[in-house]
Amino acid sequence: MSVRAQLLMPEGFLWGCATAAHQVEGDSVDDWSQWEEGAGRIYQNQRSGAACEWWRGRFGEDFDRAATLRNNAQRLSIAWSRIEPQEGQFDDAAIGRYREMLVALHDRGMKPMVTLHHFTNPIWFAERGGWLSEEAPALFVRYVRRAVEGLADLCQLWCTLNEPMVLATQGYLFGYWPPGHKSMDDMARAAANLLRAHAAAYHAIKSVQPNSQVGYAHHHLGLQPKAPAFWHRPAAQAADQLMNVAFNDALLTGVFKLPFRRAIAVASAKGALDWLGVQYYQERLATFNPLKLGNAIGTEKPKGVPVGPKDWGGLVPQNLFGVIERLYKRYGKPIYVTESGVPDPEDTLRRQWIVESVRALWRALGFNYPVRGYFFWSLLDNFEWAEGYDPRYSFGLYQTNFQTQQRTQRLSAVLYREICAQNGLSAEIVAQYVPELLPKLFPGESGAPQVRLKERY
Ligand code: FCB
Repeated sequence: MSVRAQLLMPEGFLWGCATAAHQVEGDSVDDWSQWEEGAGRIYQNQRSGAACEWWRGRFGEDFDRAATLRNNAQRLSIAWSRIEPQEGQFDDAAIGRYREMLVALHDRGMKPMVTLHHFTNPIWFAERGGWLSEEAPALFVRYVRRAVEGLADLCQLWCTLNEPMVLATQGYLFGYWPPGHKSMDDMARAAANLLRAHAAAYHAIKSVQPNSQVGYAHHHLGLQPKAPAFWHRPAAQAADQLMNVAFNDALLTGVFKLPFRRAIAVASAKGALDWLGVQYYQERLATFNPLKLGNAIGTEKPKGVPVGPKDWGGLVPQNLFGVIERLYKRYGKPIYVTESGVPDPEDTLRRQWIVESVRALWRALGFNYPVRGYFFWSLLDNFEWAEGYDPRYSFGLYQTNFQTQQRTQRLSAVLYREICAQNGLSAEIVAQYVPELLPKLFPGESGAPQVRLKERY
């Protein structure tokens, strides 16, 4: 019998999908639903509306789907705006609803990872100045405490914030997301408050639930200088410091240093991390153009690699290995890939993305980098922020028809199921679902002349 190659993960490795409240629940009332009302902000002026109808009860059927995919974990977020719809008034029914979701996951053999903040805020919080307010960390942590107290018997794995630097830049520097500010000062202030909020939440969760595991989801933007590198490299370094380094370093040192700003001390942040979440999607080229006043540093799509739609950058999933290596070497924390995926309505790129990503995880594990789980973005197509329901931004293993709420399985879902069921990747899986990758991933399994096969027996 021939022995087929397998790249197996350690026992207990978490396989799942990730979702976020505002993107799937529907019927949201928060700063985002308010923002969606303004013309020209969302693709075709769409609203999140009913989204995937999780709040109306469809989470159960979608968790069934995740269970069919042999997922043993699921990352989802809970909405602050539902749990504290008015300042200081907590809605026990909303907590009860989230309890139902977590129970539903446990019933299906899936361990929940709960994100406490995934981009959206209660309207009252936004009206009080949102993340620019000095009170923001304290307001956030009051909610966090209530939420964790209400859910602690159903969850130990907490993610405080999703992509704080993406939120700070999209909302306060580029003005694409609420509150639509375009100010370096506001961005820096919001980012510092998000850092304080994370630190306060970390300590609060540990005091409510000492055996909890608390981390946050870091968006890792792949960045290279455009050619000529000597000219553009300082731009790449500044963008890297802003998006990839500053927040994480503050958790190591207690000092928050954004590019072109004075360092500030946030002592509570030092060591406030049990694990690091990595979300890796795209590669960009950093550019420096001194003629663009106030905007001299930019990024653009790379050439020579597959790229995503519109402004989406280069798709180089194998780089996940280097991202993990860099983060582990610097921060020394266990790592979860809390999101990884690709905008791909026709499902032509996703299988390759998944297989290359899983191989990158396996390589990382081979170096003893402690990768604990992988959450694919996303289980099903959902509301993609400013891109709304633009079909080009379909991320799901299941396609969602937003008129009928029908879900259709993509072939990638079947591939992912095989990987989760086998706890890794095998030559068979690659041969069946992404045959063009077989010579690269399992060279000994492909292209060998028939006669050699005989010799094996
Ligand atoms: C990430 C976000 C997630 C989703 C994916 C495509 O940056 O965390 O909500 O929008 O991108």
